[in-house]
Amino acid sequence: MAEHKEKTFSNYTLIAIDAALQAGEILRQGYGTQFSITQKVGIHNLVTEFDLLAEKSILSFISKYVPKSQFLAEESGASGETSEILWIIDPLDGTVNFAHQIPVFSVSIALEKKGELFCGVVYQPITHELFVAEKNKGAFLNGKELKVSNVSKLSDSMISLGFPYNLHENPHHCIEHFVDILRLGIPIRRLGSAAIDIAYTAAGRFDGFFEVGLSPWDCAAGILLIEEAGGKVTSWDNRPIHHRAKDPILCTNGKIHTMLSNVLMQNE
Ligand code: IPD
Ligand code: CA
Ligand code: CA
Repeated sequence: MAEHKEKTFSNYTLIAIDAALQAGEILRQGYGTQFSITQKVGIHNLVTEFDLLAEKSILSFISKYVPKSQFLAEESGASGETSEILWIIDPLDGTVNFAHQIPVFSVSIALEKKGELFCGVVYQPITHELFVAEKNKGAFLNGKELKVSNVSKLSDSMISLGFPYNLHENPHHCIEHFVDILRLGIPIRRLGSAAIDIAYTAAGRFDGFFEVGLSPWDCAAGILLIEEAGGKVTSWDNRPIHHRAKDPILCTNGKIHTMLSNVLMQNE
């Protein structure tokens, strides 16, 4: 396995890192080439052959080092042994960007051990940015410790959000909430990879992020990154959230949490 700066990480985290780097290399090689694209349920909910290749590589890499693993992966669903070790995997978060040659996409791998998040890795192959968190050991970006931002006023914040694919059937579609924030004159971005949005919030690039209907593979790694970087993750109405619950999610630096929650709840 590759050498990593954070020598204190457990083997599980090092395995997640190497699996993400390897999958990232596959995506980097495929980026900008000709590849097959198929549509999943919902308009623009795409899958490319590189989603599948990256996922296969992650599953086989992890199975080699941790044979007694259970998996929850976006493309192949649940698989593996019955085990207290559950890997939650998005092999390519930001497929629409990838398919349109927009270099904002990531690999996201989280490990849930005995029901609790143990480590989370988000890797952005084009920028070579590797975000890693391990429970009680902190959050890091390419070896440098991460802290959420210090911004304490909503008016000084930079926010990001995502829109779900199933806008037509999802009542909490984020559009009014997006407009509410725009009307307050607050900068707001939609990057197209929830894992990157959340990792950037952990890194203090964004002060807050919200979306609805995220799947565990979109947010599990990011949730641990935020928590280990000193931020806060709840549902929009400020209740505790579970990384597999699919509740509307709100991630912030903690300081603007209640203010942003109040703005979101105005339209609920
Ligand atoms: C999507 C991205 C996007 C978010 C969607 C996700 P995918 O994941 O994270 O930013 O808005 O809700 O489904 O399909 O690119 O893996
Ligand atoms: Ca995703
Ligand atoms: Ca995906």
